[in-house]
Amino acid sequence: MDAIQIYGGNCLKGEVKIQGSKNAVLPVLAAALLINGTCEIENCPIISDVHHMLRLLESLCCVITKKNHTLKINTQNLSCCDMPSDSVGVMRSSIMLLGALLARVGSVSMQYPGGCVIGERPIDLHLQALRKMGVVIEERDDGFLAQTNGLVGAIHKLPRVSVGATENIILAAVLAKGDTIIENAAKEPEICALCDFLSMAGAEIEGAGTDRILIHGVEKLHEVSYKVPADRIVAGTYLCACLCCGGEIFLNEAPYEQMEAVIDAASHMGADIEKSTDGIKVACLERRKALPELCTEIYPGFPTDLQSAFLTALTLAEGKSVIKEEIFENRFRIVPELRKMGAIISCDGHTAVVEGQKKLNGAILDANELRGGAALVLAGSAADGKTIVYNRHFIERGYEDICSDLRKLGVRCEVVD
Ligand code: UD1
Repeated sequence: MDAIQIYGGNCLKGEVKIQGSKNAVLPVLAAALLINGTCEIENCPIISDVHHMLRLLESLCCVITKKNHTLKINTQNLSCCDMPSDSVGVMRSSIMLLGALLARVGSVSMQYPGGCVIGERPIDLHLQALRKMGVVIEERDDGFLAQTNGLVGAIHKLPRVSVGATENIILAAVLAKGDTIIENAAKEPEICALCDFLSMAGAEIEGAGTDRILIHGVEKLHEVSYKVPADRIVAGTYLCACLCCGGEIFLNEAPYEQMEAVIDAASHMGADIEKSTDGIKVACLERRKALPELCTEIYPGFPTDLQSAFLTALTLAEGKSVIKEEIFENRFRIVPELRKMGAIISCDGHTAVVEGQKKLNGAILDANELRGGAALVLAGSAADGKTIVYNRHFIERGYEDICSDLRKLGVRCEVVD
């Protein structure tokens, strides 16, 4: 059935450990290609996007061994063969292999990457930047051929902030000849994670986490062992579960420092949030309040990846909320599903207006994408009666086991195959 079944309405109580970050590990896996030898990656989340990325690495003749959440990737026999089109097609992060492969083997033929259905998500910034670094790219209807006789450093002024393009430029630049500067670079914690991994391997990078990154190209990188940081979006999703259902929970290993905008929004809704040495304590003991305006922004602003979860929590808050989506255009695809549960939401392009209700009713729902799918599971956790969320596979792209995690917090839910 590819579904999740939930009997909602319980108040939450419990503790859950936050998994390793999807958006940090995917570029790190691509970066492993730059190291001629073996890398060890600990705390790797076991999710389908990682599975697809590993399939792509194996298709490039990397040897991968897995033990629980630790991976070893040996790239000594790396060669550029045909990458499995189903894995490239489902996952936008496959574009991350481009910069790294050009650095190692000089030629890549690839179909256009896929990913969530949350907007246009073009790759023009990636391709423009690589052209500046000495890459010749021939575009076809379904993909492109990229070739270089050697990457060279360049000065990039990104016309808009892009996490993926910033990462791809970094991957192309660490072994390029000379210096590369990225202006208007993305500042997301996942950029810092990638730069930490590369720096541990001998790359010379300055300014990660600021909007100007400077990379001095080096001759080669060495083997490294790296631990993936906790996933701020998964932590934010479970924080939102508490906003939806009420109760008191502990998010073990949640990265408080990376969640300022999220914690600020949740606090304005009335949640009581406390940082401790090993995580975040969340208490929601009274009915949550509406937010007059919640606007998604680039980091350190409120993340687009948690917009759907907050939209869901706001359907149950007291008063009228306004949500503005500034990053991706199709992020309101859960609205018709939430309406089936009794939510009152009006939507106009990039803005949604939510009239908070006292309750939602269980319903049969379809997930359309990863973060929206997780938000529907939260809606089901708070709703009266039974909810079924179909298309569980979208949620499994980014959550190791959302049902097991939510059960630890007191939600009655299970996967249905
Ligand atoms: C990454 C995250 C995703 C998050 C997003 C924004 C990963 C694996 N995914 O996606 O979870 O929602 O950042 O925080 O880390 N754009 C262009 N041309 C390009 C590239 C991007 O116009 O070449 C546009 C996009 O359509 C979008 C905006 O720039 O409107 C931001 O996209 P970007 O930051 O690149 O997102 P991703 O890296 O794909």
